[in-house]
Amino acid sequence: MGAEVTELELAPVSREDMEQLLELERLSFASPWTRGMFESEFDNPFAFIIGLWDGSRLVAYLDYWIMGDEAHVMTIGVHPDYRRRGLALRLMNEMVAAVRHARCAYVILEARVSNTPALALYSKLGFVRVGTRKKYYTDNGEDAVVMLLPIREKYDE
Ligand SMILES: CC(C)(COP(=O)(O)OP(=O)(O)OC[C@H]1O[C@@H](n2cnc3c(N)ncnc32)[C@H](O)[C@@H]1OP(=O)(O)O)[C@@H](O)C(=O)NCCC(=O)NCCS
Repeated sequence: MGAEVTELELAPVSREDMEQLLELERLSFASPWTRGMFESEFDNPFAFIIGLWDGSRLVAYLDYWIMGDEAHVMTIGVHPDYRRRGLALRLMNEMVAAVRHARCAYVILEARVSNTPALALYSKLGFVRVGTRKKYYTDNGEDAVVMLLPIREKYDE
């Protein structure tokens, strides 16, 4: 069923990978992001999309923004055939290392209250629940859990 997680290559995802990205997105979400939404991410100087590759096949991706002190996880998806093998953990740890290097104070994200796998993943990484956003998801009116991972004290040198 493909390579071991440690054999997968970690590399940026670019506009040229759009078809694979859209396919992975459709496999990951009931209300997937559109081509236009990903086009805006590639146009956005604050946005970074990293992926894990099994040869030339994109099998996982993570989109995050860095805006000054704040890093924001926008979306993450792992191909269903590759889940529960540590791919999301690897991408998240890579993102945390990058935002630490960029001197971010914290990482913030939202997840659906019903998304048990994602909430478990973020808790395992040390994210803590800091609030909810009522009816955040417009497709079904679901609430979002807001989670935060402190990276450094805001005024540390
Ligand atoms: C959430 C998602 C990204 C996790 O990816 P993954 O590569 O399977 O996750 P990992 O293998 O790195 O799991 C790391 C930890 O997360 C938690 N976790 C992951 N999937 C889980 C599940 N189905 N049920 C419970 N806990 C889960 C576990 O603590 C796991 O550690 P363990 O395997 O040692 O128990 C993946 O299920 C996915 O793509 N889902 C659809 C898209 C999505 O919901 N994205 C998040 C939007 S907020």
